Amino acid sequence: MNGPAACPLRSAHSGTGTEPPALSAVTSSADPGAVYRELREKRGIVARVELEPGVFAWLVMGYRELLAVTRQERLFSRDSRNWHDLNDGVVPPHSELLRMMSWRANVVGADGPEHRRLRAPLDEGIAGIDQRGTRLRVGAVCTELIEDLAGRGRADLVNEYALIVPMLALASLFGMDDQEGRELRNALEALSALFSDTGDAAVGRRHFEQILLDTLRARERAPADDLTTAFLRHPNLESETERVQSMAAMIMAGNESIAAWIAHTLRLMLTDARFAAQVHGGRLGVDDALDEALWRDPPMSNMPARFARRDTELGGQTIRRGDVLILGIAAAHDDPAVRPDDSVEGLGNRAHLAFSAGPHACPARVPARLITRTAVNTVLHLLPDMKLTVPAGDLVWRPSPWARIPVALPVEFSTAGIPRAPARH
Ligand code: HEM
Repeated sequence: MNGPAACPLRSAHSGTGTEPPALSAVTSSADPGAVYRELREKRGIVARVELEPGVFAWLVMGYRELLAVTRQERLFSRDSRNWHDLNDGVVPPHSELLRMMSWRANVVGADGPEHRRLRAPLDEGIAGIDQRGTRLRVGAVCTELIEDLAGRGRADLVNEYALIVPMLALASLFGMDDQEGRELRNALEALSALFSDTGDAAVGRRHFEQILLDTLRARERAPADDLTTAFLRHPNLESETERVQSMAAMIMAGNESIAAWIAHTLRLMLTDARFAAQVHGGRLGVDDALDEALWRDPPMSNMPARFARRDTELGGQTIRRGDVLILGIAAAHDDPAVRPDDSVEGLGNRAHLAFSAGPHACPARVPARLITRTAVNTVLHLLPDMKLTVPAGDLVWRPSPWARIPVALPVEFSTAGIPRAPARH
């Protein structure tokens, strides 16, 4: 267990201090901040890390360096076909890394004018989202989930809530119902398992995409006020394949990050005295907790990736053409060059990089906040006396180089008098 006594450096640094640390051990360690600080001191603001055995990357931990990388797409491409380790066969064909890093013909893997062409439908579709309707639909999904477990008096808010809400919410943005949302979630889970399993990931991907294709064709016959219809009508998307790929890119990008944001905000509210009182009407509100969670525990701690198009220098390191760079968002938030002395983290300050920066910055800040805020508010409203059943320091983290999500968030609460009225969001 990653209790407070465990030394994060020992597990993350493979002992010797000379080998680059494994990134997933850093992300899931009890105190990643301490590991990032030591990495920065010993190896610099841009440091070498191991993504999986034998596959290395540069972790960009400086706030300014991270802005420089995300804003210079001519130098740092988003297209993984520039990655020498992938082209040279260093990354095995069934590597779990490919789930996030393989190239696909969508907005995520494109640069320059091609990226802007594919990005416009997302920005415009998101700008047209009916926020009130979304809040009501997501509120209903969250209320149903909590009411289902409320009679038990205990629950795991990660596996029974934070990991389920995002897909149902994302599905609803595309006009899919709960049943289709659950099917999509199962397909995505199967797909993730296949990568680490040496199974046929392409088969899993086809099933996931088939559900999206069916939705697209249904909207062709009966348009509605949803993102699927917005994509169907957008002149920049030239084929059925491009529309499905745009839907897939959004769902895959949003799913894990919203789950992490819900989990971190709930954890903060359950464990930090400044927020705990909020459950009973306290000093700091849910939006304060959402902001602080973005600073302290950005949902994507480390975001893959950029690929150097030519040899260059960054943060004192020589980066070679074809090298991969990981956006060290969590570490950049703790960069002493920009960190305020103030001990109250993030309140009222949205200069965080949780949604990245530059042309590929997340297009979905507004719906992401809407969904996460609704999910957190619903729990607070329906389970006002919930308490964590384990000490905060005993929480452990799912192994992943990218997102830092607790394995579980076990809570208990009274079963008497659970309010049935709709939550106020
Ligand atoms: C907790 C919420 C979220 C966080 C923290 C988050 C974070 C991010 C980050 C860091 C990136 C930038 C990657 C880069 O610079 O390479 C990104 C990109 C993206 N996000 Fe989000 N995201 C969230 C929610 C969502 C949601 C709900 C959606 C979809 C509805 C979404 C869709 C996307 C897409 C499509 C991209 C790629 C954009 C592009 O390449 O132009 N995200 N997100």
